[in-house]
Amino acid sequence: MEIRLGDVAPNFKATTTEGEIDFYDWLGDSWGVFYSHPADFTPVCTTELGRTAKLKDEFDKRNTKVIAISVDPLEKHKEWIKDINETQNTTVNFPIIADPSKEIANLYGMIHPNASDTLTVRSVFVIGPDKKVKLTLTYPASTGRNFQEILRVLDSLQLTANYSVATPVDWKDGDDCIIVNSIPTEDVPAKFPKGHKIIKPYLRTTPQPNK
Ligand code: BEZ
Repeated sequence: MEIRLGDVAPNFKATTTEGEIDFYDWLGDSWGVFYSHPADFTPVCTTELGRTAKLKDEFDKRNTKVIAISVDPLEKHKEWIKDINETQNTTVNFPIIADPSKEIANLYGMIHPNASDTLTVRSVFVIGPDKKVKLTLTYPASTGRNFQEILRVLDSLQLTANYSVATPVDWKDGDDCIIVNSIPTEDVPAKFPKGHKIIKPYLRTTPQPNK
């Protein structure tokens, strides 16, 4: 199944390293990052899961819960976590779904048969509090993802949700933002008290509203 931006993220029940979950119940009102890794006891995945654990405070600041999945079984995940903790100098502090039947991986289209019939690719889904999919990423098995980019997208998505701004090319936290075009120009001064610039009628900027 292909999952596209704006789709409702499918719910599921899963066995995880932190017990049985219902995905929606587990998410509650939080934002979610749901990502797949191809296989346990593999080097790139080991670094990614270690990084996720170390970024817990950053995800917490963004009211975001993270959950990983692979098609390996629970006991294997539990053994591998010991290696992740040891080699990445951390403590895995988020659930990893065991999906040996591939039911959840297939529900989210995480298996790309022309890449591998049996393993998931590196998919990322960012899910909003409304359970809608806000971001999808697909990386090959050989390329570890950039978790700073995932945090950056969360910041951008949350700015849009809370302040009606978009973020320009290469935006980073603290840079000016773009006022979304649905805000009429006459409403801009009241809505963006930090000031604004009108570069073109369709290109209006403002200092980052939450800074
Ligand atoms: C890795 O995590 O290193 C990896 C996993 C599957 C295929 C290739 C690399």
